[in-house]
Parts: sequence; structure tokens; C-alpha cells
Amino acid sequence: MVSFTLSALSALVIAGVALNTEAAAIKRSECKSFQQNFAPGVDMNQYWTDMDPTTYNLTSQGLEMKVNNPKGDGKVGNGALFNSKMLMQYGSVEAKIMAAPVGGIVTAFIYMAPGKDEIDYEWVGDQVQTAYYYRGIPDYSTENSTSLATGTSSFHIYKIDWQPESITWYIDGKAIRTVEKSSTLEKDGVYHYPTEAAHFQLGLWDASGDASTAQWAHGPVNWAAQPSHISAYVEYVKVECNA
Ligand SMILES: *[C@@H]1O[C@H](CO)[C@@H](O)[C@H](O)[C@H]1NC(C)=O
Ligand SMILES: *[C@@H]1O[C@H](CO)[C@@H](O)[C@H](O)[C@H]1NC(C)=O
Repeated sequence: MVSFTLSALSALVIAGVALNTEAAAIKRSECKSFQQNFAPGVDMNQYWTDMDPTTYNLTSQGLEMKVNNPKGDGKVGNGALFNSKMLMQYGSVEAKIMAAPVGGIVTAFIYMAPGKDEIDYEWVGDQVQTAYYYRGIPDYSTENSTSLATGTSSFHIYKIDWQPESITWYIDGKAIRTVEKSSTLEKDGVYHYPTEAAHFQLGLWDASGDASTAQWAHGPVNWAAQPSHISAYVEYVKVECNA
């Protein structure tokens, strides 16, 4: 089976290959269930791409994702991104995560499709946000926040179960939110519901750059008062494909 990478797809688009060829290619789910326990020596290249070795480390606490202190006059630190090699369309992804403890630094665990369908868990300050987007349309009314009694800067198990008719977000095995596809019908007669095969991503990024983004993220970060880097940890990731 031919496997398309994002850059190969961009090249096809630039070369003017018919768009329906591209759509057929990017919509194919390649889901294979797996669990990866992060520890020193784990091969990150098996499931992930787009990493920057200066922004992560494999430790006894799991995968340490870092935003590096920009130092000097820099206002925005360089962060970490892990993009799954495989595309999946429906199924669940679970991860045990300790979010970053600093406002302005966003910990992220999301599905991101080539056409910008998106399903999110994002940690800002001590809040856990859930959201979903259809084809990249910035409808922020899909966002919702939850607080945890024990805070987010200790390990919790987060899961996003993405099904054809509903999305459910879980924390420590308890459903905290469900969105039914039937509730997403908009005035344009289209369900603004993520359906497109997506990569899942783990990341840690500095939202200090843009003022409104920084405000949303409870930032900006006062880097002068921070150590060489700010970290979040992921102990494991478990992917379960739909049969
Ligand atoms: C990466 O983690 C290992 C194991 O915890 C540690 O010994 C090493 O110093 C770390 N490296 C960096 C660059 O932080
Ligand atoms: C958003 O979260 C609040 C508090 O957890 C909850 O009461 C409310 O129903 C949620 N709204 C949506 C749209 O999920």
C-alpha cells in the first residue's frame, strides 16, 4: 500500500495533481492498535515524526517534553511536538500525562487531520480544556474547561474516544464530556464534526507570543524567572483502533 507523507502530499498539490486524488489518499485510516511505555532507550522513530531532539528526553518518569528557555531577549521558547506517523479514523487514544505547571505553557494531546479536523485536550494553567474543530473553522464555542481537585501537574489518565456518532473525553476513567454528532449540525446544513482520518499529537508549546493567545493560556511566561526549560511528562500512550 502506498503511504503518503504530508510533505509528499504538499508536493502533489504544488504539482497540481487533482484534489480528489489527494482527498482519497489522506482519508485512508492506517490504524494499528499499540501501547508505548516511554522510558530511556525507547525508539521514538517507531511511531512518531517531526520531533526536535533538543525538546525532549526519555526519563524514568516517561517522555519529558520541554519548552526551552529562550534566554536573552527571546520571548517565546522552542517547544516539543510528536506527530503520529499513522493516520486513524475513529478509535481511542489514552495517555498518562503530567501537564506543565506554568501558565503560558500549553500541554497538548490532540487529533489533527490534514484537512484541519481537530479534537483536543489542552492544559492551560491548572485547567483541562476540551475542544473540537471542523475543517479548521475557528469556532471557539466548542471549548470547555474542567478543573481537577488534585491539579494537572500530577499524573492523570486522559482518553479521547472518537466514534462516528460521538466524542467522549475521559479523565482517570470517568467521562467528563460527550459531544454527539447530531448536536453539531450548523446553519449551513453540515455537521461540524471531525470525521477525517487524523494524526494524533503530543506537544508542549509556549503561548507567550501573541497577547490574546497568551491570555487564554494564563501567560505569558516570565522567562527571566524560569529555569533552563519547563517540562511536561507522558508515561504512556495507548491507541485502540475501531475493529
Ligand atoms: C535525560 O534523562 C536521563 C535519564 O533521566 C538523564 O540521565 C539525562 O541527564 C537527561 N538528559 C538531558 C539532556 O536532560
Ligand atoms: C462545560 O463544562 C461545564 C462544567 O464542567 C458543564 O457544566 C457544561 O455542561 C459543559 N458544557 C458543554 C457544552 O459541554
